[in-house]
Amino acid sequence: MNKMTVRDIDVAGKRVLARVDFNVPLDPVTGTITDDSRIRAALPTIKYLLERNAKVILMSHLGRPKGKVVDGLRLAPVARRIAEILGKKINTVPDCIGTEAEKAVAALKPGDVLMLENLRFHTEEEKGDEGFAKALARLGDVYVNDAFGTSHRAHASMYGITRYLPSVAGFLLEKEINTLGGLLESPEHPFVALFGGAKVSDKVAVLKNIMGKVDLLLIGGGMAATFLKAKSFGVGKSKVEAETISIASELMQAAEINGSRFLLPLDVMVADEIDIGVLGNIVTIDAVPPHMTIVDIGPATIELFSQALERSRTVFWNGPMGVEEIPQFAGGTHALAKLMPQLKAKTIIGGGSTAEVITALGLEDEVTFVSTGGGASLEFLGGGNLPGVVALRDKI
Ligand code: 3PG
Repeated sequence: MNKMTVRDIDVAGKRVLARVDFNVPLDPVTGTITDDSRIRAALPTIKYLLERNAKVILMSHLGRPKGKVVDGLRLAPVARRIAEILGKKINTVPDCIGTEAEKAVAALKPGDVLMLENLRFHTEEEKGDEGFAKALARLGDVYVNDAFGTSHRAHASMYGITRYLPSVAGFLLEKEINTLGGLLESPEHPFVALFGGAKVSDKVAVLKNIMGKVDLLLIGGGMAATFLKAKSFGVGKSKVEAETISIASELMQAAEINGSRFLLPLDVMVADEIDIGVLGNIVTIDAVPPHMTIVDIGPATIELFSQALERSRTVFWNGPMGVEEIPQFAGGTHALAKLMPQLKAKTIIGGGSTAEVITALGLEDEVTFVSTGGGASLEFLGGGNLPGVVALRDKI
């Protein structure tokens, strides 16, 4: 990465305003954090700053409160979790800008940590508002972006703020860019990309950009229905994005020209309804009943995909193979997740729901890298510029 990092600046005694992505999943009933991976991933930067006696001011969004104060999306549980992990008091304030936040910052001593309140309680954050960016910038002497997962958003705390403070990358951001960048620049072959999840439209850019670099593209999950439809298979009641059927055909043709290949499911699990109490059954892809929905890949597909993955030296995986939140439809996703640690390949897991599956199965330390960015990793691998990264100071 050609951007300056925290290593390149003096932080001792300074007010370091660090943008982190603590948009963690919360239990809908209890509000407790169900996966703290994103918090843990930012610890190397936080610890580094504390060891160098910086005054650390953390800022993040949580959920999508759309400019309103939503009590269930306050950052207090996050602050409590950081305090538990660091064994250190974490100060909090009820807002992220304004007099109280400024007073709380002024009271910080070197080695203290302050967690600001949810940035998205202000509509100005997502609008990238200059005044809001300035109000945030007043709280720091330097700015650190360690929020890879939000770097595709040109929000005030990600982009606008860099106009007012010396701005560098944290260690997580650096690791993400170097790891995902390595996939595009110098992957070891065979390079296999496994894609799933609901929508093709979310993945068109990444499929286009990556196809010249991969040897094989394996397609499962809800998005497989669009590719199967493009090959004239019936997909029953499975959701197909009509406008992307022709794009799927074009992608498959372009892949051939680029010397890569798409592998689609051979068999699938289908069900009458996507519901916790409903059981599925396995059919070959030429026999999906018109009244049923594809909910997972089938055993022959698991075998086909497993064999391809076993021959690979580099794997990138984004998106579940079926309706993974319903246990009886999670078989394909879990089978491939459990295969990852056994591969002789570098295994890079895209963020979002794929990362959550890997963590829920306790496999996060057995794969090469789990990205903390869902949308951000797709945007980056799709060849897009991430505004939050572009805005940082270049390495001299
Ligand atoms: C994410 O979870 O992908 C990031 O935190 C960004 O969140 P957003 O999609 O609500 O901007």
